[in-house]
Formats: sequence, C-alpha cells, structure tokens
Amino acid sequence: MAKRRPMVVGNWKMNTDRASALRLALDVAAGVDSLRAEIDTGVCPPFVYLDAVGRALAAANSALALGAQDMYFEPNGAFTGEISAEMLRDLSCTYVLTGHSERRHVLGESDEMVARKTEAVLDAGLHCILCVGETLEQRKANQTNEVNERRARAALKGVKPSSLSRLTIAYEPVWAIGTGVSATPADAQDAHERIRDLLVRVVGQDAAQSMRILYGGSVKPSNAAELFAQPDVDGGLIGGASLNAEDFLSIIRTAAAS
Ligand code: 13P
Repeated sequence: MAKRRPMVVGNWKMNTDRASALRLALDVAAGVDSLRAEIDTGVCPPFVYLDAVGRALAAANSALALGAQDMYFEPNGAFTGEISAEMLRDLSCTYVLTGHSERRHVLGESDEMVARKTEAVLDAGLHCILCVGETLEQRKANQTNEVNERRARAALKGVKPSSLSRLTIAYEPVWAIGTGVSATPADAQDAHERIRDLLVRVVGQDAAQSMRILYGGSVKPSNAAELFAQPDVDGGLIGGASLNAEDFLSIIRTAAAS
C-alpha cells in the first residue's frame, strides 16, 4: 500500500486580527514552499480574514492552502450569519472543517447537522476535514471508540464514493484540545487504528487505506515526532501552535519527514 501523503492544517479558531492574520499566513507560506512536494498544508483563518489571507497566498503563489473552520449546508437563502460552500469556493478555499468539537460542544451541533455539512462540503467539490473525538467523561467510561464510530458513521452516510478522496478524518480528543495534554502516541494510534477499521467496513479497504486520519489536540513541536511516527497518524490538525509561525513550521517539517 502506497504511503499516505502527510497533511498538516492550522485551525486559528477565533484568533488574530487582519494584520496579524496576514503576517502569520505569509510567514508560514514562506516556510512551506520548499516542502510542497512532500506534504499538504493549510490554514483556517476566521471567516472575515479568508479573503485577505487568500489573496496574499495567491499573490505569493504559495502551496499553503486556504481552509474554513465551518460552513452551512444550504446553498443560499435566509440563513442569517451563515456562509455557504459557494461563498468559500468564491474565495478559493480548499478545505472546510466539519464537526469540530467546539462546534459540537459549545455551539450545540448534532451528528445530523455535521453530516449535512460534510455532504455539502464534498458535493461542492471542496475537501472536508471531519472531526471526531471523545470527551473526558466518555473516555473514562471507555466509550472512545464507540463515540468515534457513531460520529464517523453518521457523517459518512451521505458521502458518495466518488467524494471519498476529498475526505479526511481528524481525531481530536476533546480533553486534549487546548489543554497542553496531548493523547499519548499509543492512545492516538489505537484510536486511529479503530477509525481505520471502521472505514474499511464502511467504505472498503482501498478507500480506507488511502484516506488520511489526522491527530489534533495539543500538538507541539516537542511531541509532534512521536505522534506522527504512528502508522495510522497521517498528520495533524493544529490549534494553539498554529498561531506561531515557527512552531507551526516545525510541526509541518516533522510531518513531512515522518
Ligand atoms: P490545540 O492544538 O490548541 O489543542 O487545538 C486543537 C484543535 O482543536 C485543532 O482543531
């Protein structure tokens, strides 16, 4: 089986302002361009800075792709405050996150809504990064694999076989996000392996083996190598450390070399 191409994406969440977003994107872009043959990279700024960051990356002819942190599943209409796939395509977005734990747990998104968003992202020709992961309570109750399976199965229901090459899963244990406490490499591998087993059952061996599964949750330059060394960890979805160009580039270089 061919080795999966690594991927590292930065989720800036509700951070930066216009000037610092541009600076950060261009600093990262300058560092990734020599790695374009080895790794897929992207950043997901807040919606309001997507246009400015996208234009700057295009002007720099950068390999650093633009991503959005969320979107709504309807194509247009009376949905105050929401953003559609077409709008994101209009800004040359490549990636869209769906089901991030902060959308699920802070904003109350259900598995059903995440499924509709995932389907809409893929139907629009965009690349979806679908996030799954258990809370601390669920982990303590030994429900990690059950929760990941439920979330992944719900979202995979509406995914057409022809879209699978544009779908990536991110395993982000909720208790590891923004806490400084990452999953151990063995725990991450265990969860990723179980997710891949599920993919084999749902989408078949070939698609499951070629889909990337990213780890997210307190990835830092100091723990990236041991996480990315795991056979089913194909890269990372990075929060806090993606706000510092040097740290983010160090994580990207580690993934490219692993
Ligand atoms: P941290 O890297 O800050 O833990 O966040 C992870 C995350 O939520 C990425 O989407």
